[in-house]
Amino acid sequence: MGAFSGFYKKTIPERIEILKAERGLTEEEAKTLLNSGALDLETADHMIENLIGVNHIPLGVAPGFVINKKEYVVPMCIEEPSVVAGAAKAAKLAAQSGGFSADADEPVMSGQVQLVGVPEDALIKFEENKEEIEKVAKELCLGMERYGGGFRKAEASLLDTKRGKMLNTVFLVDVRDAMGANTINTMLEGIAPLLAEKIGGKIRLRIISNLATRRKARAKCIWKKERIGEDAIEGILDGYELALHDIYRCATHNKGILNGVDAVALATGNDWRAVEAGIHAFAAMDGYKPLNKFYKNEDGDLVGEIELPLAVGTVGGSIKTNPIAKIALKILDVKSAQELSMVMAAVGLAQNFAALRALGTEGIQKGHMKLHASNLAVLAGAKGDEVDAVSKKLGEEKEYTVEAAKRILKKLRGK
Ligand code: MEV
Repeated sequence: MGAFSGFYKKTIPERIEILKAERGLTEEEAKTLLNSGALDLETADHMIENLIGVNHIPLGVAPGFVINKKEYVVPMCIEEPSVVAGAAKAAKLAAQSGGFSADADEPVMSGQVQLVGVPEDALIKFEENKEEIEKVAKELCLGMERYGGGFRKAEASLLDTKRGKMLNTVFLVDVRDAMGANTINTMLEGIAPLLAEKIGGKIRLRIISNLATRRKARAKCIWKKERIGEDAIEGILDGYELALHDIYRCATHNKGILNGVDAVALATGNDWRAVEAGIHAFAAMDGYKPLNKFYKNEDGDLVGEIELPLAVGTVGGSIKTNPIAKIALKILDVKSAQELSMVMAAVGLAQNFAALRALGTEGIQKGHMKLHASNLAVLAGAKGDEVDAVSKKLGEEKEYTVEAAKRILKKLRGK
């Protein structure tokens, strides 16, 4: 990753030149990044209804992630300062200790068909007709078999609710490199009439479940005490302990993890609301808990582990239409959705490590305010070297306003 050393000090065109050399970006892709108007209005108009514009979110990269011995440059879309820097720093420290190990389940998603007003023996009827139901479900997912995925199984449970008896049928499909919503929802709508015919009752919901517990990714890292210091380790462990004991802290702890996970989801054109919904439900399955663990090994090093459901794709959905997502995936260089989910798990863990390390020692405001100050300098009209000079002075004066930045800039320009 030598080519990426001091990446943050380079100009934007210089950074893109590095990506051209290191990640094979084409001239066209470089231009798309530089114009940052990648999603044109006409394309966007076909993506949602009532379009009036396109809202940009900064795209950065966190280089230096070593996961299963492979080096990654991780694209992150986020508007919040310090997140990319935190991930990059945590990745660098992790790499000095051997990097992350990670793995992921097969990409199996589930979807539900709800039958309401079903007879008492609905479950028996489901079991009696299961063979035929599964045969038709399999036919409806044949397209996925070409890629090694396809229908896996169907199961059902009878719910006794205040609105009467309902049959909750669940269909499992290996969706390979897709997120899977389209595949699953199409299949569910296809199979529902057969279910109603064989079991009785009225068809209601036919929809994917975003709680992708069969599609989890895991990452682990050992941060050596010689690299990060014993006090930082104790600070991280203290911070983690508070999250274990207090749900108010736990929500923020997990938010830090999601800063990383969401930023990669967004950069790669994935449905981050689906990812979030699944992760929150997973965190709450046995009472709301941190998504990761920190502990010390026998050598006194810090061990971090994370496990979370990650329903993400590298094909289909908005990835097809969003040119930035395609470039981000090229920079990331993952070969499958499983690999993408492993990277996201490692980034989530790294992000939490970075947040707890800062919070347990010097706090996070210093880093935040530094970027905030350069933002104010730009808003005040500073250009080139002036940006650093103005933001440095703002930091010294500890007055973070555009007015102060304008005053400093005026003085700097000798006016
Ligand atoms: C801010 O976006 C994220 C943090 O609050 C996470 C945390 O407190 O662990 C810094």
